[in-house]
Amino acid sequence: MAKNQNADITWKDSGVPVATRFDDPYFSLEDGLAETRHVFLSGNDLPARFAPGFHVAELGFGTGLNMLATFLLWRDAGAPTGVRFTSFEAFPMAADDIAKALGAFPEARAVAAPFLSAWGDGVRSFDLDGFAVDVITGDARQTLPAWQDKADAWFLDGFSPAKNPELWGDELMKQVGAHTAPGGTFATYTAAGFVRRGLDAAGFDVERSPGYGRKRHMSRGTLRP
Ligand SMILES: C[S@@+](CC[C@H](N)C(=O)[O-])C[C@H]1O[C@@H](n2cnc3c(N)ncnc32)[C@H](O)[C@@H]1O
Repeated sequence: MAKNQNADITWKDSGVPVATRFDDPYFSLEDGLAETRHVFLSGNDLPARFAPGFHVAELGFGTGLNMLATFLLWRDAGAPTGVRFTSFEAFPMAADDIAKALGAFPEARAVAAPFLSAWGDGVRSFDLDGFAVDVITGDARQTLPAWQDKADAWFLDGFSPAKNPELWGDELMKQVGAHTAPGGTFATYTAAGFVRRGLDAAGFDVERSPGYGRKRHMSRGTLRP
């Protein structure tokens, strides 16, 4: 897979962006922000675990909606210092496409201007009122093994495992485990068996919990001591 290619987008009538390369939407057709809050934020016990220096990491930055939802929650939790959000993305979206996609979520769009301005200038590391964001471009199968850090909470948000299996493979899940701090967690919208087995093999206690909307199950887990 070539590095730093841009995302090619088509749009559903509902305004949801779809990645042409993967033939899959970037977020829930029902309500992407509510799904993010249910799956990734509650799924990682946030905001309760926010503390100075807490580090969130994500596979699949996409529109930045998860990042902005995390920023909003962090801000409402009193903006503890040194909280970081690192995301891995192979096919960055154009700033105009991101702005259009975020238009569906006024709460997120309202705080997105500094992010969109940095992103439009090609800046991938920026700071939102003390919330530090770093987007590492390139195929996560290469960039995550080279990452010199560990996350306290992972958002596993590739496209569906059937359409984007490379972002859910056993080797990459092992890398997620190896880049998780003691007591760290993951959450993902999928309950696909091979993903759950891969995360178990990577060192997580994996549990199935109620999914968002029409999805019966999602998965979450904690790194075994
Ligand atoms: C469902 S979207 C993520 C949505 C995003 N979290 C948001 O808040 O909008 C999946 C993302 O994974 C990215 N992706 C797919 N394969 C990848 C790979 N091998 N390495 C890194 N990113 C990848 C896609 O380009 C896409 O942006």
